[in-house]
This record gives sequence, structure tokens and C-alpha cells, in this order.
Amino acid sequence: MKFSYANTTQILFGQGQIGAITKLIERTSKVLVLYGGGSIKRNGVYLQVAEALSDYHWLEFSGIEANPTVETLDKAVALCKTEKVDLILAVGGGSVIDGAKYVAAAAHYDGEGWDILIGKHKPQSAIPLGAVLTLPATGSESNANSVITKAATHQKMAFAAPCVLPRFAVMDPDVMKTLPEKQLVNGIVDAWVHVCEQYITKASGALVQDGYAETLLRSLKTLGETFEDRDNDLWRANLMWTANQALNGLIAVGVEQDWSTHMIGHELTAIWGVDHARSLAIVQPWLLRNQIEFKRAKLEQMGRNVFGLTDSEDLAERTIDKIEAFYHSLNVSTQLTEHQDGKSAAVDAVIERLEHHGFTALSENQSITPVEARQILEKAI
Ligand code: NZQ
Ligand code: ZN
Repeated sequence: MKFSYANTTQILFGQGQIGAITKLIERTSKVLVLYGGGSIKRNGVYLQVAEALSDYHWLEFSGIEANPTVETLDKAVALCKTEKVDLILAVGGGSVIDGAKYVAAAAHYDGEGWDILIGKHKPQSAIPLGAVLTLPATGSESNANSVITKAATHQKMAFAAPCVLPRFAVMDPDVMKTLPEKQLVNGIVDAWVHVCEQYITKASGALVQDGYAETLLRSLKTLGETFEDRDNDLWRANLMWTANQALNGLIAVGVEQDWSTHMIGHELTAIWGVDHARSLAIVQPWLLRNQIEFKRAKLEQMGRNVFGLTDSEDLAERTIDKIEAFYHSLNVSTQLTEHQDGKSAAVDAVIERLEHHGFTALSENQSITPVEARQILEKAI
């Protein structure tokens, strides 16, 4: 095992913490507040941020979409350049925070911002950013990843750069009170798949990473099973913290990862606008069945330690059934229904995009070529 690890995001967790951002932002900083379609105006979060920033020079940019687009974000990049912004404060879910990361990096680059997503430009510096999280799911508030869509070409691409890691993140579970049920479920599913993508690879014997991943999976399972308690403060706090820990880099250190469910899922979102988490539930069970021989040992371990299953020859198969049943218990489908052009055209469309993006050898074994991807999609669609 060999790795280098740091997660330097200062986290302010708990009720009433939004006002504390003033302790973390220099009084002389010019702040750009980024937000989405207006949920923060309706639930009082905007007011709390405005109050906290009342002694600051600050401006705002709104309208960042779910699955943020480069077309919208480039307007914020231009604003940063003309206004010489010192700090970006992202107030929202994964989309706003990811969008802020793109804006922060693109504002320090003279070329086309999309270059960052296609790997032509690797950001080394960015405007510092902080986050006020309003939707626990992605872990974006304390990781260095960002996923951006180009609406014109229906491309959804990711980049990661240490310079866009948020300096701080406010995680006040009270902001979840206005989340629609569907978004709470999305949060559980997205976080669940994040842990899986760092855990269901080859058995490594990494006791800390495996043990913590299993704790996170059991927590998410409990949150799903106690969904009727979702108006309870502790339930909210547990989901917010679990989703954060699921993708803050810790369980990935020194072990293999396999982000192929995400890579294929992103294409479903780019083509049909499927919610991110739901795209993962559609792909993952079929992908695991397709790749079961590579992942058997870890699936068996998960079956025992997460679902409490007893040993049998088909333990790995039963574990996948349990994962699928977990999604169904949350009313999340494991079949794509959004396509209108018929199954085979839909499968072709995804394969064409995966090939176009060069995703032709996915998984920790590079064993998901377009052939396996097609087998997976034939089941999922
Ligand atoms: O835009 P507003 O009006 O704020 O509404 C949002 C949006 O419509 C709403 N919402 C957020 N907080 C709310 C609220 N509504 C009521 N009350 C609140 N407190 O929820 C809707 C969805 O928000 P969004 O930010 O899109 O959801 P999520 O946090 O699930 O983020 C999804 C995005 O993150 C990317 C996904 O691909 C997708 O683009 N991901 C980012 C990752 C990362 N940075 O590490 C990893 C993930 O795997 C994922 O790919
Ligand atoms: Zn995700």
C-alpha cells in the first residue's frame, strides 16, 4: 500500500453554522456568491448568507442548472475576470459546487474553459472557493472533483484538480428541510454508489479502507430503512455526514477504484437528462452481474459485512440482488425508461458516446470494452 493523502477542507458542521463563514473569509475579500435555480431564496439560506456577508463587498451569479452547463458557467467566468473576485462562495448542491470549481479554474485560464474538461488544460491555480452545502449527495463540498455538461453537444465530462478543493464547507443539516423526497433518495443512492465504486474491486486486505467503507454502506442502508424518520435532525445529520465521507478521498487511498458505473451513468444523464443518482442505479446492478468474476470476493465480503448474509456458493449473486432490492425499496428503478426511440437505438446511442469519449476499457481491470458495455446496457435499458 502506498499513498499520499490530505483533505484540507475546513468543515463547519451543524445547525446555525452559516453565519460562521465570516471567521473564514478575509474581511477585505470581494466575494462572488454562486447559486442555482432559486431554492436558496425560498428556504432562507440566501438570507442567512446575505446577512453573514453584510460587511463584505459581494456580488452574485444565479441560474446554475442541475448538471451545470459550460454555457451558463462561462458567463460567471467572465464576471470573475472583470470584477477581480477574491473568493467564490458556492451555495447549493453538487451542481453549484462543481460549477463553482469550473468557474474558479477557468477564471485563471486564458483559453476556452472546456479545455479543462477534455484534459487540454490542467489547472494549477484557481480562485479560492468555499461552499455552503444544501443537498448531501456528491461529496463535492470537500473533494477536488467537478462534473460539467456541454449542452450544445450533450457531453458530460469530469475533471479533478487539487486547486479547486473548497477551502471550507458549511454543512448545516437544517438546509435539508426543504429538499424534495426525491432528492433525499438521490443523495442516499449517489453516496452508496460512491462507496461501492471505491470498494467493489479486487480484494486488497486494506482493513481500514474496507472497514470504513462497510460502515458507510451500513449507515446508508439504515438511513434508507428509516426513511420515515427523514424529518428528524439526527437522520438529516447522519445523511449529510455519511454522503460527505463517502467521497472525500479517504476510503480510496491505497486501493483500486472502479468508476465505470459513473462513466456510463453520465452518458444516460447527458442524453436523456436522467437524475445522476438514478442513472447509477440503472447501470450498477447489471454492471456488477457482468463483471461478477472480477468482483466476486469483494461482493461476498459486502454480502457478509453489510447485508449480514450467510456463506453460500452464490453469495456474490445474492449480494447484487440485495443491492438492487435496496434501490427498489427506495422506489428507484434499475431500468431506463426515459428513452423514446426504442431499446436498440438507445443502446447504440450510449455506446457511440462511450467510444467517442475514449471510454473503451473501463473498470479496474479495463475489462468493460464496448462489447461488455453493450451487454450491460441491453439489460439496463
Ligand atoms: O437549483 P436549485 O434551485 O438550488 O435546486 C436544486 C436542484 O434543482 C435542488 N436543491 C438543492 N438544494 C436544495 C434544493 N431544493 C430544495 N431545498 C434544498 N436545500 O435540488 C436539485 C438538484 O441539485 P443538484 O446540485 O443538481 O444535485 P446533486 O447534489 O445531486 O448534484 C448532482 C451533480 O453533481 C455531479 C453530478 O454528475 C451532477 O452533475 N457529481 C459530482 C461529483 C463530485 N463533485 O465529486 C460526484 C458525483 O458522482 C456526481 O457525478
Ligand atoms: Zn455520483
